[in-house]
Amino acid sequence: MFSSPHPPVVAPSLLAANHGRLAESCLSVAQAGLPWLHLDIMDGHFVPNLSFGPQLLADLRPLCRLFFDTHLMLDNPQHYIEPFARAGAQQITIHAEPDYPVGPTLARIRALGLKCGIAFNPGTPVSAVEPFLAQVDNVLAMTVQPGFGGQKFDHSVLAKIAQLSQWRAERKLNFRLEVDGGVDDVTGLLCRAEGADTFVCGTAYFHAPDRRKFVEVLTT
Ligand code: DX5
Ligand code: ZN
Repeated sequence: MFSSPHPPVVAPSLLAANHGRLAESCLSVAQAGLPWLHLDIMDGHFVPNLSFGPQLLADLRPLCRLFFDTHLMLDNPQHYIEPFARAGAQQITIHAEPDYPVGPTLARIRALGLKCGIAFNPGTPVSAVEPFLAQVDNVLAMTVQPGFGGQKFDHSVLAKIAQLSQWRAERKLNFRLEVDGGVDDVTGLLCRAEGADTFVCGTAYFHAPDRRKFVEVLTT
């Protein structure tokens, strides 16, 4: 069991909303009083799916003050940092798996005045993100294979979340610990018990019968 130094946040993932009405969905999150919106950016290479580009963030930006938590699932994220920063992202999280200069890309995100994060897939050892822990604001543990919403939570990632929490405490680090994929009111609490503080919820949030209650379960 671990706890986090950060207050818990639910970050609804726009991927699970109706893509014909993205502005409405974005506004509904803001009107519900939630501070974050999670934006999943997919390139059809790193993951077998396509989603949004910087234009979506730019168009949503003037509508709300939500913290745009931008998750780049791209083979070459280093080419897209400036476009997403210009479009209004507050945080950009990049993956540890592809072959590109990860450390310098994190440093560039920071230099643009944004928060930066490192993500890893369920099959990736947690040691892949360890060299970056002192450099990031956010560590994103994928709890499904990225690419699609609505998949089943992978319980094997819980041990990695615990390991990250232990490192955070022992080394006096301050990153947020975000979980993404199959997170609902049951699996989210399992993650919270291991020190996760940021809960990306797509399907579980947008299809919750009572969104307010759903958020309360994960954050109180
Ligand atoms: C998956 C994305 C997730 C996705 C989560 O590749 O990174 O953010 O939207 O969706 P749910 O909550 O439905 O598993
Ligand atoms: Zn995501």
